[in-house]
Amino acid sequence: MNDIALTILQETPADAAAIERLHERTFGPGRFAKTAYRLREQVTHSLDVSFTARTGTLLVGSVRLSPIRIGTAKALLLGPLTVEPAFRERGVGQALIERALKEAKAKGHKLVILVGDEPYYGKAGFMPVPPGRASMPGPVDPARLLVAELADGAFDGVSGPIKPD
Ligand SMILES: CC(C)(COP(=O)(O)OP(=O)(O)OC[C@H]1O[C@@H](n2cnc3c(N)ncnc32)[C@H](O)[C@@H]1OP(=O)(O)O)[C@@H](O)C(=O)NCCC(=O)NCCS
Repeated sequence: MNDIALTILQETPADAAAIERLHERTFGPGRFAKTAYRLREQVTHSLDVSFTARTGTLLVGSVRLSPIRIGTAKALLLGPLTVEPAFRERGVGQALIERALKEAKAKGHKLVILVGDEPYYGKAGFMPVPPGRASMPGPVDPARLLVAELADGAFDGVSGPIKPD
C-alpha cells in the first residue's frame, strides 16, 4: 500500500545523471563487477520500457530493461531496480516492476529475465530458470536467475546463452 504520492514515468535522457547517482549510492563501485553488468555494458537499456518513480520532482526509484537474447529468442533483461533507501518498503519497487512488465507486454515483448531474489521478484510473476536452460556470461547463483513470461508458454523451448541483442 502506498503512503506517498507516487508517479511512475517513462525514463528520459534527462534522468541519466540522477539515476547514475542513485546507483552509485545503492550499489557503489561493486556494481561494475556484477555478471549482469557484463551484459549491460554491451547494450543500451531501452528507454521505452524503463521507468522512474517520483514523489513530486524527486526521483526516488528506477528500473531499466535492456534488449537481450536467450539463445535465439528475444527477451529483456530487467535491472538494475533501485529505490532510494528512505523510500523503501512502500511499494515503489513493485510498482516499478509492474509498470515495466505491463509496458513491455503492451509493446510485444514476451520474456523478461533477471538476476535477483526469488522471494521478492516472485510476487511479480518471476520464476527460477530451470538449471541448464540459460547461461549468463559469468558466474551467477542459479537460484537467482529468474524469468517471467509475458505471453503464455513464451519460455517453452527457449534455451541457450544470454547475450546482448
Ligand atoms: C530491492 C528494492 C528495489 C525493493 O524496493 P522497495 O520499494 O523497498 O520494495 P517494495 O516496497 O515494493 O517491496 C517491499 C517488500 O519486499 C520485501 N523485500 C525487499 N527486498 C527483498 C529481498 N531482497 N528479498 C525478499 N524480499 C524483499 C520487503 O521485506 C517488503 O516485504 P513486505 O511487503 O512483506 O513488507 C530496494 O530495497 C533496493 O533498491 N535495494 C537495493 C538494490 C537492490 O538490491 N536491487 C535489486 C537487485 S537489482
